[in-house]
Amino acid sequence: MRVGIIGAGQLGQMLGFAARKLGIEMRYVDPSSKPPAAVCGKVIQSAFDDPVALIALAETCDVISYEFENVPVDALQHIDGLAPVYPPASALWFSQDRLHEKQLFDSLDIPLAPYLAVNSRIDLDTAVEKLGLPVVIKTRRLGYDGKGQFVLRHADDLDAAWDALGDRPLVAEQWIAFDYEVSCIGVRSIRGEIAIYPISRNVHIDGILRTSRSPLDAPSLSATASDYVHRLLGELNYVGVLALELFVVGDRVLANEFAPRVHNSGHWTIEGSATSQFENHLRAILDMPLGSTASLGHAGMVNLIGEIPDSLRGANHGKLHDYGKLARPGRKLGHITVLADNAAECDALVEKIDKNVTQSTSGPENVA
Ligand SMILES: Nc1ncnc2c1ncn2[C@@H]1O[C@H](COP(=O)(O)OP(=O)(O)O)[C@@H](O)[C@H]1O
Ligand SMILES: [Mg+2]
Repeated sequence: MRVGIIGAGQLGQMLGFAARKLGIEMRYVDPSSKPPAAVCGKVIQSAFDDPVALIALAETCDVISYEFENVPVDALQHIDGLAPVYPPASALWFSQDRLHEKQLFDSLDIPLAPYLAVNSRIDLDTAVEKLGLPVVIKTRRLGYDGKGQFVLRHADDLDAAWDALGDRPLVAEQWIAFDYEVSCIGVRSIRGEIAIYPISRNVHIDGILRTSRSPLDAPSLSATASDYVHRLLGELNYVGVLALELFVVGDRVLANEFAPRVHNSGHWTIEGSATSQFENHLRAILDMPLGSTASLGHAGMVNLIGEIPDSLRGANHGKLHDYGKLARPGRKLGHITVLADNAAECDALVEKIDKNVTQSTSGPENVA
């Protein structure tokens, strides 16, 4: 069995490590010369939308998947009929455009922050008037880690926001003073089997995920999140892992966005779950029975952004994952996972490690 992945970053690398355990071979397409996943399989060095590379991948693999959601949907048509592609292209289509994604949530009765499409300066004025400040504007396409976003807090922020992002199609959404953020990761296999991981509580700084902890003692919230994920998996006839990011505000649970792939907020599942999200993604797309998503304790994950401090190397209070990437400000270089017997112990470990981690300086400058 050989799986082809479009993209060979750290997600492709962690998929590759899971593949090794299952006796599956991996192959990748990626434009960089030494991507993180190169240690796991052959990399065809090429642009993500290069038909020749995609055809070469599809002709030599049993199934194709991708590790990021900006693979052009059109490019996938080059491999149509050569090998199945999971998650399905429709999921990619919705997740690539924040407006389509929000319309999908609406159609499934999944609550979300009030929003409006913005295509002109007049639209922006109207959106601010209707939604009320603060408002965040986001590029409809290609945003990640808080990039392509601008938070408007005062009426005189409008000009700067428009100067920064007005040349692209946008959505404006109400800024939600959430209590906290969670994500729910689900997986559906070709045969339609579904498994849901316990939700994790996530902290973002400057729009970038900093820490995740799971499980949470919140049965009603967990049930709601799981219900939303079931609706998405069913509607999209989904195959693979899907992550849904949510805002919790009092007793309301609002969808933020979903990712049709393995997700940073699920990295703790490598040590913290009976079966990791990476292994279950492979099981799902290869039509194997899914593995248990039961937790093995209280897991915490701290992202290592911009640098991996020497003090963390060799420390024995967590499992360090170094993706082998060149250090650059704002870049996710690795993560540390800790496991504890209870939530308080897990929180203490996460905080101790987090204190050693340099503050990220990237992301949208005006995000509070
Ligand atoms: N409407 C909002 N209200 C409050 N915080 C928000 C809102 N939109 C985004 N954020 C914050 O910014 C982070 C990144 O935004 P998100 O829409 O998830 O973009 P990305 O694709 O970059 O992850 C969120 O996890 C959250 O912390
Ligand atoms: Mg996000």
